[in-house]
Amino acid sequence: MSNYHIKNLEEYFQVYRKSVRNPELFWEEIAEEHFMWRKKWDKVLQWDFSKPEVKWFNGGKLNITENCIDRHLHTRGDKTAILFEPNTPNEGAQHITYKQLHERVCRFANVLKEQGVNKGDRVCIYLPMIPELAISVLACARIGAIHSVVFAGFSAQALATRINDSDCKMVITSDGSYRGAKTIDLKGIVDDALEHCSCVDTVLVAKRIQSDVNMKEGRDHWLQPLLDEAYIDFPPEVMDAEDPLFILYTSGSTGQPKGMVHSTAGYMIYSAYTFKNVFQYKEEDVYWCTADIGWITGHSYIVYGPLANGATTVMFEGVPSYPDFGRFWEIVEKHKITQFYTAPTAIRALAKEGVSHLEKYDLSSLKVLGTVGEPINEEAWHWYDDNVGKKKAPIVDTWWQTETGGIMITPIPFATPTKPTYATLPFPGIQPALMDGNGNEINGNQVDGRLCVKFPWPSMARTIWGNHQRYKDTYFSAFEKMYFTGDGALRDEVGYYRITGRVDDVIIVSGHNLGTAPIEDAINEHPAVAESAIVGFPHDIKGNALYGYVTLKDTGEGRNHDNLRKEINQIITEQIGPIAKLDTIQFTNGLPKTRSGKIMRRILRKIAHKDADNLGDISTLLNPEVVQDIKDNAM
Ligand code: WT7
Repeated sequence: MSNYHIKNLEEYFQVYRKSVRNPELFWEEIAEEHFMWRKKWDKVLQWDFSKPEVKWFNGGKLNITENCIDRHLHTRGDKTAILFEPNTPNEGAQHITYKQLHERVCRFANVLKEQGVNKGDRVCIYLPMIPELAISVLACARIGAIHSVVFAGFSAQALATRINDSDCKMVITSDGSYRGAKTIDLKGIVDDALEHCSCVDTVLVAKRIQSDVNMKEGRDHWLQPLLDEAYIDFPPEVMDAEDPLFILYTSGSTGQPKGMVHSTAGYMIYSAYTFKNVFQYKEEDVYWCTADIGWITGHSYIVYGPLANGATTVMFEGVPSYPDFGRFWEIVEKHKITQFYTAPTAIRALAKEGVSHLEKYDLSSLKVLGTVGEPINEEAWHWYDDNVGKKKAPIVDTWWQTETGGIMITPIPFATPTKPTYATLPFPGIQPALMDGNGNEINGNQVDGRLCVKFPWPSMARTIWGNHQRYKDTYFSAFEKMYFTGDGALRDEVGYYRITGRVDDVIIVSGHNLGTAPIEDAINEHPAVAESAIVGFPHDIKGNALYGYVTLKDTGEGRNHDNLRKEINQIITEQIGPIAKLDTIQFTNGLPKTRSGKIMRRILRKIAHKDADNLGDISTLLNPEVVQDIKDNAM
């Protein structure tokens, strides 16, 4: 039996038990047998959750791109590594073989070096889903620069905040991007952002939409001519196992976005090992994850995990609705996709369009279906199972986070019996715990609590860039010596986990993790606004939508409330991005507060959920009188 490839339930249990009984031996074997090292590590694991400090394979030396590219050149050099499917179907797909990927990454690495980027420098990547995105990520890793990919749907302000937070010296972008029938002026957004970033001295610009853009003399360079002149080989920089590989920002419940820092070796091993097992990838398979590389799902399961396994990974530039709602299925048929990984919000949006779009295509190549990003409701689960997988392709409901780097709780297809809405069992190496309100672990089954992890795993984020204290406060302070996920979960009678949702002020909208505080801060910048509070409420397609309660400085009489609503959403769009726009805005005379001045979101949440009849005890509020008014005017 190999620990690396789990094929049935019995093997899963054996491997899992081993991973818990002797984690160091377990991970050491995997690291040794399945990866390329320049130097072996001195110690498999050092950890102390009270600091918190975690080091995996310390002293080991390697380069992740050697593992993702070079080592495949002899065995699968002509195999497609990246299969690019463009926004418009008739543009035609592009197959990039491992050999070609090697050459393109090396050329790009030389360009980065020539432009003065060195090991440890931060490079911000703000690109659409075109091959240059994956290639620039890998080129950074090749030279040891730390990439910080910012999803190209974020606004100029959100981009500037992220560039400044990690002091990036370069931005890689494109003239623009395609999104269905629309184009987006990415370069213009970068120009606006850079008005506020003095740290950036170079911008590399890929050509995608052939638009006229402004090129700032001395700062901006077209990418292609530089690549054309660059040398086709580049020796990988030898990195320490614990050297940061990338920073990826995620929303917190308060304040600035958090730049989660991921390490090199631990991240590589865990993303590769989970990819192999969660998708049961076989050599001839064509794997497709529909996420954007701007999110962790794309980092781990479009780029690093698949490539470390020598897989063919699809990169899709477009959207599910263009040219029509059959696009996903057209791609599945055309490329004979074997594993398909998407988000519940996409499944619900497609289900709403009916099955006629599916019926036109042959989906019989599909072997495994995946979902990630938020709890999947039972209806969507069955729709996916019945119509896409035809009940023959197991669904892996994978629970994990930007912070965890890889999939944590998931079925293993063909091994773990699935159960709708359950992420089922912890992956080998993962030791979950459910905690009660008093900080005690809840043992036994048929219980629910706050989801924590008791023991380190290789791909956990090591810190928050520039703010280790915040890392400690956010993840290691709620429960002693535990990593706290921010999620609630229940464990059923056989030990399966079901994630019930966030227990903090993070709301997941269409699979995007949004903190309430930054949205409230944006709203409060409107000159007419005194204060505001955001809560989530159930939405058919998005999972959750945002409901904002806004108190104006004067009573707002005589003001056009619809205009105010538009202005508020405009500010949110500018500061964060259109994904954070509010669905509902209710103007209030005041917000319910505790005596210590904290907004009682519980009450606001109930009203938004149209469950205002049982608000519980509100007598302890500072201002109980506002509640009736909010109820009366609820939308
Ligand atoms: C939060 C993390 C991990 C990649 C995408 C999101 C929620 C994620 C599931 C799932 C229920 C899920 C959690 C988690 N979540 N997957 N299968 N079932 N909830 O990454 O933006 O860091 O968000 O997404 O609430 O904490 P992220």
